Amino acid sequence: MSLKLAVVCHSGYGHTDVVAEHVVAGASTVAGVEVSVIKAADITGPDSPALAELDNVDGMIFGSPTYMGSASAVFKTFMEASSGRWMEQKWANKLAAGFTNSGSMNGDKQNTLIEMMTFAMQHSMIWVGLGQMPGNNHSGGSDADTNRCGAAIGCMTQANVDEGPDVAPPNADRETAKLFGIRVAEALCRWGAQNA
Ligand SMILES: Cc1cc2nc3c(=O)[nH]c(=O)nc-3n(C[C@H](O)[C@H](O)[C@H](O)COP(=O)(O)O)c2cc1C
Repeated sequence: MSLKLAVVCHSGYGHTDVVAEHVVAGASTVAGVEVSVIKAADITGPDSPALAELDNVDGMIFGSPTYMGSASAVFKTFMEASSGRWMEQKWANKLAAGFTNSGSMNGDKQNTLIEMMTFAMQHSMIWVGLGQMPGNNHSGGSDADTNRCGAAIGCMTQANVDEGPDVAPPNADRETAKLFGIRVAEALCRWGAQNA
């Protein structure tokens, strides 16, 4: 039986959705892992059916744009809607990981990933980081390097604010997201089923 991995994502203007698509594309290449996408916007409260779907997965990858140095309000609505699950520790030992996209190269994305990681720890989930060396940090590096934002705790991407999701974030970030999806799916294979 396949292991189930859900990507729970919000995107206001489509850029973070592009990142999610690449995370999904990467994770879907790993044999034995079935990947689904849940729109955080569909989770408006504790009784949302989309939230119940998460009870049955083995791992979750969280995705949100960074808005005002934080996860978006829509993503936070999902987080708060899960508090009943937290009371029961219903998601304990499921795998968790996160990605965020913002307009600035830094943009305070670290805070968004820390929010996601803290959320996962409250649920007693098992956090998986990016697992890629930082790119574009030496004289031979360039903006075309994977992990050009130099993240470790999760996947960071950057989309120019005057460009649409057809071109932003750029290919380097799309590839970073794909590798991240593969990493989390492979980690799930090692960790095993957690949807009892
Ligand atoms: C309300 C709002 C707040 C934002 N705050 C930040 C921020 O704190 N840091 C940053 O670098 N970009 C910020 N941005 C830019 C977005 O992160 C950026 O445009 C991103 O690509 C949007 O992703 P989306 O298309 O998935 O919504 C903000 C955008 C909006 C609409």
